[in-house]
Amino acid sequence: MSDLPLFLGQFIRRPSEIRSVIPTGRATAREMARHVSPDMQAVAEIGAGTGTVTRSILARGLPPERLDLYELNAAFCDRLRKGFPGAHVHNHPAQEMVNRTGEPFDAVISGVPTLPMPDELQAAIVGAALSVMRPGAPFVQITYGPLPPLSEITRRRFRLSHERSRWIWANLPPARVYVFRQE
Ligand SMILES: C[S@@+](CC[C@H](N)C(=O)[O-])C[C@H]1O[C@@H](n2cnc3c(N)ncnc32)[C@H](O)[C@@H]1O
Repeated sequence: MSDLPLFLGQFIRRPSEIRSVIPTGRATAREMARHVSPDMQAVAEIGAGTGTVTRSILARGLPPERLDLYELNAAFCDRLRKGFPGAHVHNHPAQEMVNRTGEPFDAVISGVPTLPMPDELQAAIVGAALSVMRPGAPFVQITYGPLPPLSEITRRRFRLSHERSRWIWANLPPARVYVFRQE
């Protein structure tokens, strides 16, 4: 089933939440998922959309039972539940993420559009994620802009260092993947 009609339809209804007309391309999804390994005990994906990145995360060999998906959009959550049986789909904002099993997350993979968000909202999302992540675990964030997708204020507040991927030109629009870690 193509994700495109659903994605585009929801973008038209909620452009400020979704921010992109089409789902992430495969090369970018693979670059984001590269930070997941099959031995990880708990991984979260936030802003999972219709599941393009989810597919790449599971292709890394992670059992779906160890994956928590946070997605604001109810129609996308229905698609995620059908497409990824076994994964734990939460129709809640990422800023409400919790430690479901008590096991801290070994990685958080984010498709949430953080770049245009105000600092307070960035801080709510990053703060919630860090509070349920293993110390030093990667917070992986896609972006389409030339600047880091978390503001300097947010990075300083949480003492985040970062690395970034090359530009992925095959993505529409071209994308880059940042990996933030708390120092
Ligand atoms: C650009 S789309 C990316 C979707 C998918 N990851 C992909 O790569 O195709 C951003 C997604 O983040 C979701 N979103 C926005 N703000 C969110 C929040 N605070 N918590 C959880 N999901 C959020 C939107 O509903 C949308 O599905």
